[in-house]
Amino acid sequence: MSIKNICCIGAGYVGGPTMSVIALKCPDIKVTVVDLNEKRIAAWNDEDVSNLPIYEPGLAEVVQEARGRNLFFSTEVDKAIDEAELIFISVNTPTKTYGVGKGMAADLKYIELCARQIARVATTDKIVVEKSTLPVRTAEALQNILHNTGKGVRFDILSNPEFLAEGTAVQDLLNADRVLIGGENTLGGQKATEALANIYSNWIPEERILRTSVWSSELSKLTANAFLAQRVSSINAMSELCEVTGADVQEVARAIGTDSRIGPKFLKASVGFGGSCFQKDILNLVYIAKSYGLNEVADYWEQVIIMNDHQKRRFAEKIVKTLFNTVSGKKITLLGWAFKKDTNDTRESAAIYVADYLLSEQAEIVIYDPKVSQEQILADLDYLNTRSEAENRALVTVVNNPMEACDNAHAIAIMTEWDEFVNYDWKQIYNQMQKPAFIFDGRAIFVPSEMENIGFEMYTIGLAYSKNI
Ligand code: UDX
Ligand code: UDX
Ligand code: ADP
Repeated sequence: MSIKNICCIGAGYVGGPTMSVIALKCPDIKVTVVDLNEKRIAAWNDEDVSNLPIYEPGLAEVVQEARGRNLFFSTEVDKAIDEAELIFISVNTPTKTYGVGKGMAADLKYIELCARQIARVATTDKIVVEKSTLPVRTAEALQNILHNTGKGVRFDILSNPEFLAEGTAVQDLLNADRVLIGGENTLGGQKATEALANIYSNWIPEERILRTSVWSSELSKLTANAFLAQRVSSINAMSELCEVTGADVQEVARAIGTDSRIGPKFLKASVGFGGSCFQKDILNLVYIAKSYGLNEVADYWEQVIIMNDHQKRRFAEKIVKTLFNTVSGKKITLLGWAFKKDTNDTRESAAIYVADYLLSEQAEIVIYDPKVSQEQILADLDYLNTRSEAENRALVTVVNNPMEACDNAHAIAIMTEWDEFVNYDWKQIYNQMQKPAFIFDGRAIFVPSEMENIGFEMYTIGLAYSKNI
């Protein structure tokens, strides 16, 4: 079966870039991305591609080429569902904030709403593809809704999790390590799997298109994220040990990374991992394990989160302790707010938690991030509900100029590893700061001795105590 018309429900960080690349690589397929959020769709349709709702290197160029040709963004969800032969579900699945599984389980209400909408609208056979990260056996719930419409329409459900990382989404999509498709082992399931595989084979080599059962595919996505996050927590655990014993975590990472069984990637100690996936997916994994009574499995993975929370907190504590045990009324500059460089996404960013801790200690925070707006930063802090919106606004200033952000500061904390931070005129910044001038490098972007030569007091995550303040 050859697909000519695709609909994607959800124009977010996953749906937007993924569909843009599919449209780019498959000019004969019409791809329509729909969302309920009118503002978001308007931004995707903005004539000036620098105003797209998400920032990803290379994405504006892809959208520029495909949009209006075979790539469309729309709020007409029903129409797009009706026309499509294949529907991707790419809506958000946040951690539940209420009821059973609160704080742990994935909230599937948006997925269920999509399924019901598809069931209501569809008049022809559809392949329905889970793109969002979902708990194992979500497809069963989708099946129950879709297979009971009584309209004689056939639905084949596939799992096709997305492995792109933000900041490198376009490259990850163009040169994917693998594409994973989980389908039912029936004639219909196989046909649906091959229809989706045919789309990817326009640019992905056949040997990189993996086919599994639906359940294996769903669980592989959670497992991949759990393993990746576990590496970060493992190296972060070692970073604390390095600081007290006199080792350097970057040297340790290099030394172990050369073992081909371990590998060099994802061993960068940091102020803690963020992003919309790692924490949510591990909590979800823990919840699933517990629900089957697998308490040891649940505890094992929960430790990855506990370590990450510890890393964020100890970084904030280090700042307070170093600034003579009080930051009350002191100006502290945070460089970076996004959860990693090259994205404007701030979900679960370590910066939010560090800022919140410092604000509770009555610090005055000034924030600069090259891609994150003041509106977003304040919304992130308000969302925590630690203090009133008015108090957040009284203590937090967001500026567009890094030099202004650092002016007169008692300390600077590096929260995101944006490339531009290294290239600032650090001599001038030093001259404009309160003395002693402290830098807390939560991403190890500086060579500490170079900064110390300027006069800074340096703390670098994972660096031996003798070199750190
Ligand atoms: C280990 C380290 O590999 C080696 O670098 C170090 O110098 C000494 O310790 P060793 O214990 O000899 O070497 O064997 P290894 O191949 O690492 O296996 C250790 C155990 O893990 C074995 O019981 C093996 O069966 C088990 N294992 C290993 C698994 O169960 N699954 C795996 O994927 C790999
Ligand atoms: C992740 C997975 O990488 C991706 O495959 C999946 O599809 C979605 O979740 P993402 O969250 O976008 O992608 O970014 P990633 O590069 O994995 O970084 C996650 C967090 O870990 C960031 O806060 C990053 O700064 C941190 N990190 C990553 C480290 O602190 N050290 C590292 O070595 C790597
Ligand atoms: P992700 O990182 O998984 O892409 P986002 O939150 O960035 O998550 O994007 C998910 C998008 O899905 C949001 O823009 C949201 O408005 C949209 N969405 C959620 N439910 C529906 C629905 N029933 N119909 C259409 N769009 C939806």
